[in-house]
Amino acid sequence: MRVLGIETSCDETGIAIYDAKHGLMAHQLFSQVDLHKQYGGVVPELASRDHVRRILPLIQGCLEQADCDLASLDAVAYTAGPGLMGALLVGTAVGRSLAYALSIPAIGIHHMEAHLLAPLLEQDVPAFPFLALLVSGGHTQLVEVKSIGDYCLLGESVDDAAGEAFDKTAKLLGLPYPGGPAISALAEKGDSHRFRFPRPMTDRPGLDFSFSGLKTYALNTRNTEPDDEQTRADIARAFVDAVVDTFIIKCRRAMEQTGLNQLVVAGGVSANKQLRTGLEQLMQELQGEVFFPRPEFCTDNGAMIAYCGFLRLQNGQTEDLHFQARARWSMLDL
Ligand code: KG4
Ligand code: ZN
Repeated sequence: MRVLGIETSCDETGIAIYDAKHGLMAHQLFSQVDLHKQYGGVVPELASRDHVRRILPLIQGCLEQADCDLASLDAVAYTAGPGLMGALLVGTAVGRSLAYALSIPAIGIHHMEAHLLAPLLEQDVPAFPFLALLVSGGHTQLVEVKSIGDYCLLGESVDDAAGEAFDKTAKLLGLPYPGGPAISALAEKGDSHRFRFPRPMTDRPGLDFSFSGLKTYALNTRNTEPDDEQTRADIARAFVDAVVDTFIIKCRRAMEQTGLNQLVVAGGVSANKQLRTGLEQLMQELQGEVFFPRPEFCTDNGAMIAYCGFLRLQNGQTEDLHFQARARWSMLDL
């Protein structure tokens, strides 16, 4: 089975071809970061328009890279949600029309499920059941993964997602969009001992998160301390330390609660160096194993959509012609 994957849920047009026998045959990405940078965040209307411009050339590029043609495709998988509605509609319309014209199945993929399964594209993969920490721009969730499609939500953010907190804090430190990589780099130059931010919601039981208070902490510190480069780096450091520590505390708790000792970390924030190091140390201490996607598959990409579509179709899932894109969509409804 050969599946074309299409991702257009936010500001990246990602296309890939996954084949049952050959694995990942091609993947290409166009990031709209430069387009949105001047506005300090994603402008949904501009994102949709740019997906329209990029999607067909990228599909063509993937077919050339994989050295195959449209007739060799067995199915089309596209991100059906959650995400920006206009952006989702581009991938949905192209994906479904292509499948219809080729008389092959189309399948709408849940973006967060695709993130969750992305580490399975690597050489070393976890066995079911395992624990997953999903950390992206829109979601922060701890999930018990029993099998493909059987997910139990253990905890999630009650306000800002981790990526959102990175982006907002970066903005108030004067860093460019997207803030995650920028704040992570600045934190490297910071001193961990100068400021200490709280580890939100770790002083009570449960596995939920809250990150919105951290940006207020960062803002207040910025307003009361001298405005110099070292202070900004120290604030970035205090922010990153607080986020990483919070994840370590909650992951430890989730492992104890479930008895699971394999942890998958996925979504844009899983590219974060400090988080990867922190969770690797935790899993070493707990004699467990941690799995990350390769950095380019942490953030949005077409490979995870093609692969998730392949797994779903292999499990016998299909969809009818009335399937709709969904801006909001809980993974528990899968
Ligand atoms: O998964 P993703 O590409 O898109 C969503 O599904 O939301 O995640 C994007 C988020 C952004 O908030 C971005 O700032 C964050 O991931 N991010 C990072 C890093 N790279 C991307 N956050 C922290 N450190 C990074 N290295
Ligand atoms: Zn994503």
